[in-house]
Amino acid sequence: MTDQLGRNLRDLRISITDRCNFRCVYCMPREIFGDDYAFLPRTALLSFEEITRLARIFARRGVQKIRLTGGEPLLRKGVEKLVAMLAQIPGLELTLTTNGVLLPKLAAPLREAGLHRLTVSLDSLDDEVFRRMNDANVAVAEVLRGIEAADAAGFGTIKINMVVKRGTNDDGIVAMASHFRGTGHIVRFIEFMDVGTSNGWNLAEVVPSREVVDRISNTFPLVNLEPGYSGEVAERWGYADGNGEIGVISSVTQAFCGTCTRLRLSTEGQLFTCLFGEQGHDLRDLLRGASSDEELEARIAGIWAIRNDRYSALRTAQTSGLRRKVEMSFIGG
Ligand code: GTP
Ligand code: 5AD
Ligand code: SF4
Ligand code: SF4
Repeated sequence: MTDQLGRNLRDLRISITDRCNFRCVYCMPREIFGDDYAFLPRTALLSFEEITRLARIFARRGVQKIRLTGGEPLLRKGVEKLVAMLAQIPGLELTLTTNGVLLPKLAAPLREAGLHRLTVSLDSLDDEVFRRMNDANVAVAEVLRGIEAADAAGFGTIKINMVVKRGTNDDGIVAMASHFRGTGHIVRFIEFMDVGTSNGWNLAEVVPSREVVDRISNTFPLVNLEPGYSGEVAERWGYADGNGEIGVISSVTQAFCGTCTRLRLSTEGQLFTCLFGEQGHDLRDLLRGASSDEELEARIAGIWAIRNDRYSALRTAQTSGLRRKVEMSFIGG
């Protein structure tokens, strides 16, 4: 199944809650996502049965990897039950991106339920900087405990995502690399993106990945590695002494739309063909109406067939404010 730019559908990212126990300044700034913010009511969310039904249909249409996201996906009650249901679908790789705080409780149940891989977000090892970024008074140690729990549960290599903002946490880049060097885990440094409309993005706060690689290389020489799979979002760099690898994700300075094989399903069942989309395609009404699996499949195939998104490739400092883009916490990273 190819879209207008010849790209195949491979990955589905499913947001299972729009809530989060963090208020990261680049994602859910407290001024907007504060006490009065109207989160989705329970009945608006897709049920586990609805999500699983859709996942089966997507798998038939070429999806090989499903990533559960949010908001914070571990806040969705019974998330391990959803994983167990999805794990029944043959041939799917199941992954999840979390802020890590609930992993001490959930890592083992998630692993037992059949989750294959985990990605944990962590923006700094310095408590003061981390607290300023998560804006929810969460200490670094809480996330590190989560990573340890995931390790103990047998998740193997864990990816650690650090969103880099110049002047906020960029002086911690080398410390982050150093901390996880030799542990078997992979830190990925992400360029601060202009997702949504509320995070106050500006180009001056983006640290280009090239600079991240140079800074780390000054202390720990790096060599470029081949992508792990075609269309991998992160560019891989290995430590020259063999002590593991890092990744850089350069959505701003080196867009990767040309190989974008992703669809995103929002918490309430809207399908987005781009992270920077304005409007989703509603699937919930079809799910809750009398539509057959075949009708749903045809709808999904039709949406993919006309897709021509390449927002990051077209982005300039000027275009970023022009659209009413969906918030990241609503459709997941
Ligand atoms: P694996 O390679 O399977 O480990 O995962 P991944 O790197 O695709 O997923 P992850 O959730 O860790 O993605 C890392 C970050 O890359 C996301 O949080 C986003 O910031 C960014 N990203 C992922 N997909 C896209 C995309 O389609 N477009 C853009 N612009 N950024 C993306
Ligand atoms: N720019 C880059 N990455 C972001 N994330 C959330 N908001 C942004 C942004 N504005 C990252 C999170 C997490 C992943 C799901 O997306 O840190 O690792
Ligand atoms: Fe929550 Fe992740 Fe957004 Fe931070 S980046 S507010 S942890 S959803
Ligand atoms: Fe895909 Fe849109 Fe990201 Fe480009 S900007 S890689 S089309 S999700």
